[in-house]
Amino acid sequence: MDVFKDKNVFITGAASGIGRSFALALADLEMNLFITDINMENLENVKKELEEKNVIVYASKCDVCNYKEFEEVSKDFHEKLGDIDLLINNAGIAIVGSIDNIILEDWKKVLDVNLWSIVHSIKAFLPNMLKRGSGHIVNIASGAGIFGSVEPLPYITSKFGVVGLTEALFARLKKRGINVSVIAPTYIKTDIFKLESEKIAYSPKLLDDHKKEKIDEIYREIFEEIMKSAMSPDRAIKKYIRGIKKNQLYIFDVIATSQILAMKGNNPQQYEDFLVMYQKNREELIKKHFLQHGINIEDYIESY
Ligand SMILES: NC(=O)c1ccc[n+]([C@@H]2O[C@H](COP(=O)([O-])OP(=O)(O)OC[C@H]3O[C@@H](n4cnc5c(N)ncnc54)[C@H](O)[C@@H]3O)[C@@H](O)[C@H]2O)c1
Repeated sequence: MDVFKDKNVFITGAASGIGRSFALALADLEMNLFITDINMENLENVKKELEEKNVIVYASKCDVCNYKEFEEVSKDFHEKLGDIDLLINNAGIAIVGSIDNIILEDWKKVLDVNLWSIVHSIKAFLPNMLKRGSGHIVNIASGAGIFGSVEPLPYITSKFGVVGLTEALFARLKKRGINVSVIAPTYIKTDIFKLESEKIAYSPKLLDDHKKEKIDEIYREIFEEIMKSAMSPDRAIKKYIRGIKKNQLYIFDVIATSQILAMKGNNPQQYEDFLVMYQKNREELIKKHFLQHGINIEDYIESY
């Protein structure tokens, strides 16, 4: 996709973080925007920011887990703006948990928001693109969809699904005039790491022995340390838009992601060692923070 001016874009999860920054950057490129989220208060604020840029903008609730909402909102999109040129499937969540305490509801929720959302979105919007033989679909995955990293297991599983789905769509849609990209962000400073209780499934025994406020405080410190080296969303979006302009299948924001991908193919032993070392480093970081508060986390959780 090389021309953005006066073209129409639909974005999910646009009330915050990467989705919000995408909307602002695409407004600067004079696109017409249709932004959606479940957090309507934040979404209205983003709409106001966009209106200050004198672009056409509509904001609507769309829970990406619910196909009915997608169907209605896509109908509204076509009535208000016409054809869809750029579809950004961005909404996503992470819930921290442990392999020792698998919570099925959390897995379901994460797979619904991160993976089923894209199936819903494609079902709602692809027919219009196919009819015209043009358009660009951008799915936001994660570095956690490229290698089995230290992020929560349901999150990684969902993001590998997003990467696989996008890759499989690439050739199928290319010959029909539609471009497909997957963005694999590393750490970007957004609210995804803001501590909210529903984002962490604490070990029940840990909660029996210690005050929840104290555990929250420790996790807040851990998230802060992880995000210290994170990139600002605005800086990341510039890289993502460059990738969209080039119609790239894979869009990375740091060279390390492509190096890890290459290592996986070229040197499997090195890749296995890397996975073990990466996990060990993360577990040590978590252990260090708990120890600073007098808790040996290994008494409660063995693997994160
Ligand atoms: N921030 C990072 O470090 C990072 C890294 C890799 C991938 N990502 C991915 O980037 C995307 C955007 O995340 P972010 O970092 O901007 O997080 P964020 O929490 O700032 O924004 C996510 C947005 O999605 C919305 N949302 C959540 N559930 C929804 C639902 N059911 N329906 C509609 N909207 C919903 C939230 O309300 C929020 O506005 C996600 O897919 C995330 O997995 C982020």
